[in-house]
Amino acid sequence: MVRRLFPNPTAAVDLVEAYAPDLTAGGPFVRLNMISSLDGAISVEGRSGALGGAADRRVFAALRSHADIILVGAGTVRSEGYGKVRLDGALQRARVARGQTMLPPIAVVSGSLQLDWSSEFFTGPGPRSLVVTSEAAAARGPAEAGEVADVVAAGEQRVDLRRAIALLGERGARSILVEGGPGVNGDLARARLIDELCLTVSPRIVGGEGPRIMAGAPLTPPYEPVVRHLLEDDGFLFLRMSLREMRDGE
Ligand SMILES: NC(=O)c1ccc[n+]([C@@H]2O[C@H](COP(=O)([O-])OP(=O)(O)OC[C@H]3O[C@@H](n4cnc5c(N)ncnc54)[C@H](OP(=O)(O)O)[C@@H]3O)[C@@H](O)[C@H]2O)c1
Repeated sequence: MVRRLFPNPTAAVDLVEAYAPDLTAGGPFVRLNMISSLDGAISVEGRSGALGGAADRRVFAALRSHADIILVGAGTVRSEGYGKVRLDGALQRARVARGQTMLPPIAVVSGSLQLDWSSEFFTGPGPRSLVVTSEAAAARGPAEAGEVADVVAAGEQRVDLRRAIALLGERGARSILVEGGPGVNGDLARARLIDELCLTVSPRIVGGEGPRIMAGAPLTPPYEPVVRHLLEDDGFLFLRMSLREMRDGE
């Protein structure tokens, strides 16, 4: 059973309530959700599944249930075999009651457009997926892209993630959930575009040389997150942290 350790310890936690996004800022609220082992690994043999469990899946679903759009890197879509979002009936009804669509679509960030256009991610039932890419890649991209996905072109030669977030906002996304991986996370973090980090600390120590939650150049200055809550369930720790204090050099 999930319990809150901080603030105000309690055993009565409503996960959907606990993860209600802060929609008071001007642009879309950007939240990153990642799971890490106790020793900092985010994958085992290239996938994150070995770090998860039932408790983590409940928080994962609660977070997805608040998103207008989910954003994910092409590396993660390729390595994790991403499909479309599924949520149980209660979470779907709660979305509709909040004025959201029954299920959020997923937008994949890709510069190369090396994606499997016949995969369930693009052709399965559910909301049409989006592809966030550069204008140059969109112009020369495969015809299938536009047939199975909405193509969002942001940036001329390279993907401009700030522009991409703004364009997703123009499409009505007020709450964007980023699900990794470290390539997208690092680029978003360096552009100071992340408002909140939800980090699941898995009760596993896995060793190895696996990547951490952020790839690429160091963050200077580093983020100094403010902890909003700490939950625990079955040994998993769920940190919800605000990064907004550092956004745009505030
Ligand atoms: N533990 C967790 O919570 C978690 C979550 C997600 C992923 N993962 C793990 O992370 C690993 C995947 O890592 P990854 O670094 O490959 O992941 P990634 O960030 O999902 O993908 C990197 C790819 O995304 C595209 N991309 C990212 N940022 C871009 C930008 N600013 N502009 C243009 N394209 C951009 C590029 O795709 P193109 O190559 O198509 O140009 C790039 O090669 C997997 O092992 C997965 O299991 C773990």
